[in-house]
Amino acid sequence: MTPHSERDLLARRKKLLGAGYRLFYQQPLHVVRGEGVWLYDSDGNRYLDVYNNVVSVGHCHPDVVAAIATQSAQLNTHTRYLTDAILEFAEDFLQEFPDELQNITMTCTGSESNDLALRIARQVTGGTGILVTRWAYHGVTTLLSGLSPALGAGAPRGDNVWLIDPPDTYHHATGSMTTSVVRALEAMQQAGARPAALLFDTIFSSDGVFSGEMQDVQQAVRLVRDAGGLCIADEVQAGFGRTGSHRWGFARYGITPDLVTMGKPMGNGHPVAAVVGRPALFDEFGRRQRYFNTFGGNPVSCQAAHAVLNILRRERLQENALQVGHYLEVGLRKLAAQHDVIGDIRAYGLFIGVELVNNASRQQPASAYAERVVNLMRQKRVLISTTGPNGNILKIRPPLVFQPEHADILLSTLGEVLTMHPNS
Ligand SMILES: Cc1ncc(COP(=O)(O)O)c(C=O)c1O
Repeated sequence: MTPHSERDLLARRKKLLGAGYRLFYQQPLHVVRGEGVWLYDSDGNRYLDVYNNVVSVGHCHPDVVAAIATQSAQLNTHTRYLTDAILEFAEDFLQEFPDELQNITMTCTGSESNDLALRIARQVTGGTGILVTRWAYHGVTTLLSGLSPALGAGAPRGDNVWLIDPPDTYHHATGSMTTSVVRALEAMQQAGARPAALLFDTIFSSDGVFSGEMQDVQQAVRLVRDAGGLCIADEVQAGFGRTGSHRWGFARYGITPDLVTMGKPMGNGHPVAAVVGRPALFDEFGRRQRYFNTFGGNPVSCQAAHAVLNILRRERLQENALQVGHYLEVGLRKLAAQHDVIGDIRAYGLFIGVELVNNASRQQPASAYAERVVNLMRQKRVLISTTGPNGNILKIRPPLVFQPEHADILLSTLGEVLTMHPNS
């Protein structure tokens, strides 16, 4: 793109959209087309997308496009009529869940799913307290932004919210999540409150990507349940096979949550999301109030989600995440052996966190350097980002159709950047 048109777009955004929005990269990217793992700019240059989990089955997958187009041309309405698509999807989709979790409510976004799950939890338990991790992100509503410290210090913490540690064994001792849950439950009791739920992102992505501590998470869930709260697994990030070993992030810990919330990858870019859970919880909620979401569960969205599910199964994308994720991890560990700045690699299928630290003290976050790396990668047309409270963890999370040849491009580009621009 010419600098002139880029400047023009930026000026129009500023004028029209206001200050709340943020763009990626020092030199923002104007994308006009996507296909598979590639994004294209207005000059026809292609960029390797190693960041987008929304387009789980690849940008503009033709089956999803066709499903949306076909249903749009036939009927689109809401759930207060009898329609087929939602039932056909629900019957098929619920097979992906444990036998105990066999009710689904459709929504449009991950935020709406979390919001509904928390309403159910508060109503059913009679408790109000919610436990979330220290740098969690769970959504955009007033309730959820109050449960999302990752939004920054400017976002006010909600009432009855207790912060706990993620299962982070790089910075803390094993069992850090459990220890912090004990403390939080005590504090809650002293404040005269009872827990409604532990809500956690099953890969702790904004906290820095952690998914290795089975017993810590199991124990934390048990403690909250013993105190009367529910377990809500937020699968917006880890779900749909991304971690390779399991379809859902919660399954990595050997737990069955009470409610599971989903979003982003479910519709490959189409806004479709859901809460799945124990039927008794939905029954209890529904007895006392109704839930109507105008767009949630509309036939077009259900067809989009159904198409994604079919592609996930047919193209064996979970297996692909496992294999290509492993390939990528091996390559990253080779880079780590050459570059001291890589302090830790946390790899779970196609969700990988690469923690960059300053050499002098291994765990001192190399935040400015991580930002530099991301921008240099963007100049070389490979798109990644950072995560974690200090923004020093490279977030590698491509569409699930990522192949070894794409991993090679990422690895050689990252190797080049780390070699040519050392952390000094
Ligand atoms: C873990 C997690 N939960 C919930 C959400 C909110 O989803 P949405 O943006 O669809 O409302 C996000 C979005 O980034 C997320 O990462």
